Amino acid sequence: MHITFLLNGESVDLTDVRPTETLLDWLREQRGLTGTKEGCNEGDCGACTVMVSDRDGARALNACILFLPQLHGKAVRTVEGLAAPDGTLHPVQQALVDHHGSQCGFCTPGFAVSMATAHLNGDTGHADALAGNLCRCTGYAPILRAARAAESAPRADWIAADLDFSWPEISSGGPAGRGADSPPADLTADAPETSDALAALYAAYPDATLVAGATDVGLWVTKQLRDLPRVIFLNRCTDLQQIEETEHAIRIGAGVTMDRVLTLMKAHHPSYAEMIRRYGSAQVRAAATIGGNIANGSPIGDNPPPLIALDATLHLRHGNDRRDLPLEAFYLAYGKQDRAPGEFVEAVTIPKQPDRLRVYKLSKRFDQDISAVCGAFNITVEGRTVTAARIAFGGMAGIPKRASHVEQALIGRPWTEATVAAADPAWAQDFTPLDDMRASATYRLTAARNMLRRALAEDAGLRTSVLEVRA
Ligand SMILES: Cc1cc2nc3c(=O)[nH]c(=O)nc-3n(C[C@H](O)[C@H](O)[C@H](O)COP(=O)(O)OP(=O)(O)OC[C@H]3O[C@@H](n4cnc5c(N)ncnc54)[C@H](O)[C@@H]3O)c2cc1C
Ligand code: FES
Ligand code: FES
Repeated sequence: MHITFLLNGESVDLTDVRPTETLLDWLREQRGLTGTKEGCNEGDCGACTVMVSDRDGARALNACILFLPQLHGKAVRTVEGLAAPDGTLHPVQQALVDHHGSQCGFCTPGFAVSMATAHLNGDTGHADALAGNLCRCTGYAPILRAARAAESAPRADWIAADLDFSWPEISSGGPAGRGADSPPADLTADAPETSDALAALYAAYPDATLVAGATDVGLWVTKQLRDLPRVIFLNRCTDLQQIEETEHAIRIGAGVTMDRVLTLMKAHHPSYAEMIRRYGSAQVRAAATIGGNIANGSPIGDNPPPLIALDATLHLRHGNDRRDLPLEAFYLAYGKQDRAPGEFVEAVTIPKQPDRLRVYKLSKRFDQDISAVCGAFNITVEGRTVTAARIAFGGMAGIPKRASHVEQALIGRPWTEATVAAADPAWAQDFTPLDDMRASATYRLTAARNMLRRALAEDAGLRTSVLEVRA
């Protein structure tokens, strides 16, 4: 595979790229750019953060779970490329020095790159921007002080120049997929540019691994050391990255990243957006796609519960054949989805509706943690009576699942504490959760019940926050 991208302002042209070589390994081993560190090698610590820009803007990404072919046509900036060509430090680097924001050289490069990305984007939500960067010693206060101090400094021209990079030239410069520049003989990779081309390829090679954001697949390579003999990259299928809104529905392409879903949901279902704020980190949300999260079938994926509560329809495609099904019907059993070989997720549609959705993510850590339980409540109350209810959970069964018995116990009854208490026995009919390292079965059942009480309390006007304890 042949790829071209910009690295710290200089053009890089690579042939015979190994499709699952990570940017982190390549930077350190092939380019000697060892400022980008390997900490966890699984997207959790941010030591490997790089800035990646394209015509849609700049974002911080974890280089450890970013495969080289995903960079084609983009501009990459590592910590070595933050300072000005004359050596003047980037404003965020200088602020880290001035505010004593660094003790070790291990996490600091990642912090500096995340901060420089936020600085370029004018993003002053520093706690969210840095939630994916782990510092084990300094404490975050000096780092946050540094980020705030750099806010008013002008944008670094030498970095902003990445945004003006000559896209048409570069994207026509590198062939997509196989061709004269073949990958090593044991590996095959394709990067179709349309979903039609993807559909034809995947139907022909149903054993291929689809790679969207690689926030799951990356770990199969870096942690499970799996070989992926045939890979199809989805990131060039721009037609899968569209969000279409009509009067009655919102259709979200499978390739839409979670940071875009967050922005979308702020306008339609703010509680869903607030949950996504805690989905991985800025680096993970900028890579992870909604299609990858739906397709991986994880019982603790955070999108299925709100999407099922919103009565979402999943759009699947195999070759030229398309079919739709309610999202909840997609999940058959643990690790088993209703998806044929060669079939892929094209999009998901939610009907437009007045916002009643409440989504609660429960995890051991507020930021950057996988849910123990994620509950979504879409409860319609007319007068004082519950007239409709769609309640769905992750983390309560082997699949994302509706609380059907609980729903029935609410419908037709007054929306009161007494009704919620009367529904208590229904939870055990709906769910027999597992004990695991995230939570015990008892804890999960209790937490789920309490989430329904929280929905009731919020409907009654009580403001709740998992970050506050009030007596
Ligand atoms: C540090 C970290 C934190 C995370 N935090 C969270 C979290 O808080 N909540 C959460 O839910 N998840 C979390 N995840 C998991 C992961 O980010 C999500 O599941 C993500 O949405 C997967 O999307 P992706 O585009 O990266 O998928 P990929 O890794 O590219 O693919 C995932 C799977 O889906 C398949 N696939 C991808 N696209 C399609 C398609 N269009 N059609 C059919 N199959 C497809 C792939 O073949 C693969 O099997 C986290 C991951 C990491 C590394
Ligand atoms: S090395 Fe920890 S996120 Fe990449
Ligand atoms: S400065 Fe590196 S761990 Fe805190």
